[in-house]
Amino acid sequence: MDKLAVFGGQPAVPRDQRSVTWPIITEEDRKAVLNVIDSGELVSNSDTPTAVDDLEARFAEKVGVARCVGLSNGTTALQIALAALGVGPGDEVIVPALSFIASGLAPLHQMAVPVFADIDPVTFTMDPEDVERKVTSRTAALLPVHLHGMPADMDALQQIANRHSLAIVEDAAQAHGASYQGRQVGSLGNAAAFSLQVTKNLPTCGEGGLLTTNDEALADKIRMTRQFGEIIEAGKPRDYISYHLGWNSKLNPIQAAFAASQLSRFDDYEQRRQANVSAFLDRLRPLAGLQVPAERPGSTHAWHILRFRFDPAAMGLDGVRPTALRGALRRVLRAEGVPLSQYQLMTLPQQQVFQERTGFGRGYPWAALEGGSAPDAGHPVAEAIIEDSLTLQKRHLNPDSGPLLQRYADAFEKVWGNLDLLAKLARAES
Ligand SMILES: Cc1ncc(COP(=O)(O)O)c(C=O)c1O
Repeated sequence: MDKLAVFGGQPAVPRDQRSVTWPIITEEDRKAVLNVIDSGELVSNSDTPTAVDDLEARFAEKVGVARCVGLSNGTTALQIALAALGVGPGDEVIVPALSFIASGLAPLHQMAVPVFADIDPVTFTMDPEDVERKVTSRTAALLPVHLHGMPADMDALQQIANRHSLAIVEDAAQAHGASYQGRQVGSLGNAAAFSLQVTKNLPTCGEGGLLTTNDEALADKIRMTRQFGEIIEAGKPRDYISYHLGWNSKLNPIQAAFAASQLSRFDDYEQRRQANVSAFLDRLRPLAGLQVPAERPGSTHAWHILRFRFDPAAMGLDGVRPTALRGALRRVLRAEGVPLSQYQLMTLPQQQVFQERTGFGRGYPWAALEGGSAPDAGHPVAEAIIEDSLTLQKRHLNPDSGPLLQRYADAFEKVWGNLDLLAKLARAES
């Protein structure tokens, strides 16, 4: 049996084969950016069409929705969606307990209170049963996250939303191209937010966001909200009248042109990624005690992040604590050349911002809740996942990463062939 690299053996992933880039930046991407600079159309509140209009039209078509609005980033897209739907002080928004911090901050930015629902142990998306338990007379919206690229359980959530007259804002920041029962994510709720931040499956050269919706009136309102509440119409000079509360949250045409150029290659990359990731996961699935990312029946996963859970008992390592096993696996697999990382160190509700509730000061927005907020009983599934899982990010997004992923699979198999040594390391860690 091969000696583990952590004990001085040859790493399963040779050092000269580890380098893989994301995003891939081509000559077309560079030209697209330069064309915008040369055009002089450098802001999206122009009265003539810009690269932002072009990206909006193309992304709306890709998602299969009536409208798309370019915004400065995904967090802003979530907040402005909530704003346009009328969510504000005194309201609660139900958010999954495991996500990137922005999913929990967006309601706060609207002076609404995020209420955290636990997640499903396999899909890592919001658990509809816990959502139902968390609905109160103050709940205004659900904010399901298609976490890591896995579509949330939208049918069950839509039924809850219908029963209680709630809006749904999809957080699709990690899920470009994922589909749910034949429909693209981003077309499943009242509105959806996508991030174009440079590490995403559809990246820009920096920061950016897109909001999608089938509601024309909502899209018009959001276009105004991103531009100080003003109406900007093609062919008409700007009149500087603010009709409602707005921000300056526009997407820059340079960022839009880069993302549109990436969008031209998106489907090709996505197809190759699907093949690479599924061949990788097929090799990991037989390993005892390793929970590989699953696909929801009838859905496609965008594989933005691959999260692996480890079960000490199923690995024959009774008595080893999950955190100790996670620490040992991280060390051993990184030594083999697999760059696993923990990503979030805690659940969303455990973050200081939600624990200390300083918010806007003087207890707001929690102080605006009539009757006070309900006590939080914890989120056992999300907490367990934080303790017993590691993630793989970015490398597998490159469509040429197939051979690298096979070397990663070699590394996992090698480590699983040395579970006795892994147990020793884990016990030493505890
Ligand atoms: C689930 C989720 N929601 C929202 C965001 C926020 O997007 P942005 O970074 O573009 O503001 C991110 C970004 O990583 C995310 O992963």
